[in-house]
Formats: sequence, C-alpha cells, structure tokens
Amino acid sequence: MKVLVINGPNLNLLGLREPSLYGARNFAALQEFIRSSAASLGIDVELFQSNHEGAIVDAIQAAYGACDAILINPAAYTHTSVAILDALKAVALPTVEVHLTDISTREEFRRFSYVSLYAQKTICGKGFDGYKEGLEYLNSLQ
Ligand code: DQA
Repeated sequence: MKVLVINGPNLNLLGLREPSLYGARNFAALQEFIRSSAASLGIDVELFQSNHEGAIVDAIQAAYGACDAILINPAAYTHTSVAILDALKAVALPTVEVHLTDISTREEFRRFSYVSLYAQKTICGKGFDGYKEGLEYLNSLQ
C-alpha cells in the first residue's frame, strides 16, 4: 500500500513554532517518525509538505492512480479550504485527517474542519502518535 502523507502550512516550523502547543521535536523528526511508522507496517509513504493551498490541491490530484490512501494534516487550511475538501472528494481515496493538537478544545475558529466533511477518520491531540494511528487505520482498510 502506498500512502501520500501531506503536511500543511507552518508544520515545517515544528520545534520552533509554539513548542508549548506543538512540542519541541522538529519537522525532520516528524518525517522520520512517519517513515519508521510506515516501515513497521510495511507501508510505502510519499511525504509532502507545503505552505501553499494550490500546491496541496495539486498533490492530492497527483495521488489519483498513484497512491492508495491519503493521510493529511491540513494545518490552518483545515478551517478554511473548500478547495482541499473538493480535491479530496474528487480523487475519492481513503483519507485520514490528523492534527497534533486537539482542535476541539482550542479557539472557536479551529473547531470546524472542512476536511472532516470527507475524511473517514479524524485523529486529534495525540501529537506524532496520531500519524501512526492514522497509518494503522489506513492499513486496516486493505
Ligand atoms: C494543526 C491545528 C490547526 O488549527 C493549526 O492551524 C495548525 C496545526 C495541528 O496539527 O494541531 O497549523 O493542524
């Protein structure tokens, strides 16, 4: 199984970015964590990060016919992007939404997720472990 793992804006600044919320480990550590979690499940992963909405839409479209599933942390675009929701619906791949923090207990504007309107599962507030849980869920669908 091949999974496209997408990380949205500002996640490349993990470690530097609000460490009291997002933790002290950096983005390279997250990528390594995802790679080793995937390897332990026998999943082939493609890692993609962008700060640009259109680039994320392009990556989702490119997954059609190339990947079996998508794991996405859309970051701030979670709460704003109809375009990312529409791209996910268009390619119609099994999709898990993941957030490092628990968006349901933060500011009001973070409580709504467009991506949740399509994702088969949403995992929040489990830090890096949420990505592993998401990969396990996608693996279980095979
Ligand atoms: C986030 C939560 C979003 O509200 C925020 O904009 C992010 C990260 C998370 O992983 O907890 O950038 O998706």
